[in-house]
Amino acid sequence: MSPLWVFGYGSLIWRPDFAFIDAQPAKLPGYSRRFWQGSHDHRGVPERPGRVVTLIEDVAANCHGMAYLIEAEIVESTFEQLDYREKNGYERLVTDLHLVSGTRVPGLVYIAAPGNFAYLGEAPLDEIARQILEAEGPSGRNIEYLHELAQALRRLEAHDEHVFALESLTRELGG
Ligand code: BEZ
Repeated sequence: MSPLWVFGYGSLIWRPDFAFIDAQPAKLPGYSRRFWQGSHDHRGVPERPGRVVTLIEDVAANCHGMAYLIEAEIVESTFEQLDYREKNGYERLVTDLHLVSGTRVPGLVYIAAPGNFAYLGEAPLDEIARQILEAEGPSGRNIEYLHELAQALRRLEAHDEHVFALESLTRELGG
């Protein structure tokens, strides 16, 4: 095994929870972040699933996040741990990441593809906002996840229309 980059675009941005030897803001070309994946195990429960982010192919877009470099000796155990944490429909994809330093590196990203068992897909933004406001699971309230993500993106100076629109809508609805 060699050291390996992993790209975080959801909770991995503010809570990586694993050891890394470098971390850099990064972008993933060709994808948009969307609250289209159901969460029955972290930010919701089976009777009232929450919504968390996945990546949707979008040729004209860039998804901004954080890339973490994991050292060779712990690559395998780190991904076993991440596979468990992200077990609700996500799969690993190896792709090219663009680091803020200007370098392009191969990296791994977790994507929940359309049609997976927990996929909820597109819905009107106000419906998504209400669902996020109402959901809560073992990892906490769904609204906290949305607000943590929006704050983390602001710290990265990354704009994400979808995330910021949902943040505004949930605030209007009292969240
Ligand atoms: C992330 O934070 O990048 C992430 C999102 C979904 C699944 C696994 C990781």
